[in-house]
Amino acid sequence: MRVPVIAGNWKMNKNNDETKKFIQEFEKLMGETEVEVVICPTFTSLASAAQMLSNSSVKLGAQNMSWEDEGAFTGEVSAEMLLDLGVDFVILGHSERRQIFNEKDEIINKKVVKALEKGLRPILCVGETLEEREDKKAFEIVKDQLIKGFDNVSKNEASKVIVAYEPVWAIGTGKTASPEDANEMASFVRSILKELFTEAISEEIIIQYGGSVKPANVEEIMNQADIDGALVGGASLKPKDFIEIVNF
Ligand code: PGA
Repeated sequence: MRVPVIAGNWKMNKNNDETKKFIQEFEKLMGETEVEVVICPTFTSLASAAQMLSNSSVKLGAQNMSWEDEGAFTGEVSAEMLLDLGVDFVILGHSERRQIFNEKDEIINKKVVKALEKGLRPILCVGETLEEREDKKAFEIVKDQLIKGFDNVSKNEASKVIVAYEPVWAIGTGKTASPEDANEMASFVRSILKELFTEAISEEIIIQYGGSVKPANVEEIMNQADIDGALVGGASLKPKDFIEIVNF
């Protein structure tokens, strides 16, 4: 049985005070849940978030990390530094990193491998642009991102990776993939994971959908057979919205 994972990607939003306020409010609203809940604040808010969540079932994720261990890499943050704060998850290869910061599959793969080596769970983002979808290349693009993203990942480690299918055209646009289309891609992702590893491993891997997930559409999305969670941007910034998503 796959335990659903719902993660909030705060992107470059919320300072320390705002982070603390969110967590205070969110914790008050949060009851028992069968879902694994993760919040991914900015690097600068991780330490205070970790302190506040030390006795909570809510887990912490980072939004990026370096593939290097340490040294002369100005502006970078290592896996060890994240672990030191109590971070469990790390978003890798988000489409904003790919598009705005020009991160390529090879770099993203090095990060995935490093995260696993250190014991962090990568949330590997894949997804096509609108142009690629219109050109009927969505499946080809996602397959390529998966093959490259999972390069050098062993069978033992593969199921620790979470795959987030995020069609780029649905991110922050208010446009969501239809639940059927999202599930079609999630099933395709699982079929590729089966080819790369084994059927049993592919059945263990959590596949999230991301792109304009909100309280109004989360249930339909989560009801799809191959979708095991959501990566939520905008709607994860408000405790009331995010709790509704978690309690879908
Ligand atoms: P959105 O972002 O929910 O604001 O569309 C999702 C994401 O980028 O992970």
